[in-house]
Amino acid sequence: MAEALRVGIAGLGTVGASVARVLNEKAAELTRQCGRDIVVTAVSARDPKRDRGVDLSAAKWFDDAVKMAETADIDVFVELIGGDEGPAHASVKAALEAGRHVVTANKALLAKHGVALAEIAEKKGVLLNYEAAVAGGIPVIKTMREALAGNQVTRVFGILNGTCNYILTRMEAEGISFDACLKDAQRLGYAEADPTFDIEGHDTAHKLSILTSLAFGTRIAANDIYMEGISNITQADIRAAAELGYRIKLLGVAQRTESGIEQRVHPTMVPTASVIAQVHGVTNAVAIETDILGELLLSGPGAGGNATASAVVGDIADIAKSRPGFQHAPVFGWPARELKPYKKAQMRSHAGGYFIRLTVHDRIGVFAAIAKRMADNDISLESIVQQAAGPETQAQKTVILVTHETTEAAVRKAVEGVTKDGHLTDKPQVIRIERAE
Ligand SMILES: NC(=O)c1ccc[n+]([C@@H]2O[C@H](COP(=O)([O-])OP(=O)(O)OC[C@H]3O[C@@H](n4cnc5c(N)ncnc54)[C@H](OP(=O)(O)O)[C@@H]3O)[C@@H](O)[C@H]2O)c1
Repeated sequence: MAEALRVGIAGLGTVGASVARVLNEKAAELTRQCGRDIVVTAVSARDPKRDRGVDLSAAKWFDDAVKMAETADIDVFVELIGGDEGPAHASVKAALEAGRHVVTANKALLAKHGVALAEIAEKKGVLLNYEAAVAGGIPVIKTMREALAGNQVTRVFGILNGTCNYILTRMEAEGISFDACLKDAQRLGYAEADPTFDIEGHDTAHKLSILTSLAFGTRIAANDIYMEGISNITQADIRAAAELGYRIKLLGVAQRTESGIEQRVHPTMVPTASVIAQVHGVTNAVAIETDILGELLLSGPGAGGNATASAVVGDIADIAKSRPGFQHAPVFGWPARELKPYKKAQMRSHAGGYFIRLTVHDRIGVFAAIAKRMADNDISLESIVQQAAGPETQAQKTVILVTHETTEAAVRKAVEGVTKDGHLTDKPQVIRIERAE
């Protein structure tokens, strides 16, 4: 049997401790599958005394993850510390430069330094595996990097943040407000004490930037993502969406267009009958649309110790199965040096259907004025419905419009016009509609 694969794990928190436990508990199966043992020979975290719920006594302890990356007797460095700089970045870079394979679950790190790290890995002939960094346990990286060879991806989109999907699911199921839902999610541990990163779309954007690179062979451009979070989604939107046959999801979407590549994260209306609309709670999903295959949807647990450990262990097992001297697949599907510059499509040229909800004064002529603003901007309407507001707001009405395909620029101009006309009593709401099967 080949020599054991020696693994060093830096970070023994939710994911790191789960990885160590799975490697222990599944040692016999992994040996059978990989044809060699996988042993944890080194570990690093901040507190050497903390009980991690797994026996790590055989592994050498390192206070310094960078030192472990450079000097430990390991073949694979597993980074599960987190953060886009500091010890995570320094240790991953050091491990690759020392010619060690790296496995990481760190989307923030890859969104910022992924291409530079991939260049080092490819120069050194080692693997940089990161299945857990996007959609946790869902094997989307492998699918895009390996299983879809020959396919040209036209669009990739997904529910990439469990916290947002949990909140939107409960808002719809229970009719409660965004704020009430968020508080409850925090109490139950589904949302962080500071939820900004999740609910404003940053976490989704990090993951999307990696998928974009895999889909289109472009350099990662995490700072070039149009981003809107879910905090302004109201019950009125959710109810109107349901009546129109849609459900609201926070999607990350990357799409090839004539003017470049769109990367956008925003609340989106998807048809209630589509497969992605059935993805509820903390579950994640990624849809990949290609010229040969059509639309493929992968869904499953996007976070949590076990689900994430499953992806990390899969990455480690791939390294155990790889043979020395064998050329590895490029980190982002194309050699890092050949990744093309990212050509950004302007959001204003985004084409699609739109949902527009306007709260207006209940006055004669308002409805006609809104319809005229739409027509003036060449927006063709699928429907326009006027609803009376509740008894406490009798002086107002709600107007809900659904457009046929139009452009972001036209919608913005039309809504600006309606606002200027002085008919609105509240901020207008605009939600993009996404085609999905
Ligand atoms: N949690 C998830 O569901 C999930 C899902 C997908 C991806 N991820 C990614 O996985 C990574 C880890 O997440 P997590 O949830 O496991 O985080 P976590 O529970 O906060 O664990 C972080 C670990 O890093 C250790 N650490 C901190 N600073 C260190 C340093 N300077 N040197 C060595 N170790 C250090 C901590 O040590 P102490 O324990 O001693 O404090 C802790 O064990 C992140 O990149 C995250 O984005 C997590």
